Amino acid sequence: MNHFSQEIIAIVPAAGIGSRMQAQCPKQYLPLAGSCILSVTLNVLLSHPAISRVVVALHPQDEYFAKLPEAQHPKLTQVIGGGERVDSVIAALASLHEVDAWALVHDAARPCLTHQDIDKLIASQRQFPQGAILAAPVRDTMKRASGNGCIDTTVPREALWHALTPQFFPALQLKQILQQAVAAGVNVTDEASAMEWAGIMPGLVSGRADNIKVTHPDDLPLAQLYLSHHQHIKQALE
Ligand code: CTP
Ligand code: MG
Repeated sequence: MNHFSQEIIAIVPAAGIGSRMQAQCPKQYLPLAGSCILSVTLNVLLSHPAISRVVVALHPQDEYFAKLPEAQHPKLTQVIGGGERVDSVIAALASLHEVDAWALVHDAARPCLTHQDIDKLIASQRQFPQGAILAAPVRDTMKRASGNGCIDTTVPREALWHALTPQFFPALQLKQILQQAVAAGVNVTDEASAMEWAGIMPGLVSGRADNIKVTHPDDLPLAQLYLSHHQHIKQALE
């Protein structure tokens, strides 16, 4: 069990349109494991005992969410998202009234998250009191390209990580820093990038590499495969 004393609220940006997925509907509503990507993601968070609430940010013209069973879940609230991912996260954080809560921000498009990785991230707060993110070490040899499509140099891999989600920070401070970073014109691609801009060094918590973001059409069968693999392991342990 974790000994985290503050309230933990999951923030789920789900207001994107999934343009790279080139599907008929926003990618978070594509079928997966008998439901859809967003349902799978929300269920991982809603069923975690340390998470007291889940706030999902939706597109202003969303016409799918109300039909999901999770829409009625007592732990779930919805807000209208914004033009960029960061705007959606800010909108969700702005709806919180809890002062001391910590926010666990997780992409709707990452359905393969496990409770074990959530536990690991929450437990890391002892080591990283200013917050941390799940991340995966880079595996391949990394190259920096020159302007003409050739290799300029090999970049040492040891210090490179893929930034994943969830990303875990004090909610009020995160909201303020995201707002300041946006106002300053910073390109905020994840929560940690805004914290870094503010001089805070978030911790890197090694997470499962199969916590992929469904981004391109090829990613969907992969997510399905990872999920059924997790299911098999779970059943074998029962
Ligand atoms: N997101 C959001 N609000 C936005 C844009 C994105 O809440 N204005 C969410 C997406 O719904 C997704 C997460 O942020 O869960 C990560 O973004 P990404 O994978 O880029 O999703 P999309 O922006 O929908 O996809 P694309 O960039 O291909 O259009
Ligand atoms: Mg996007």
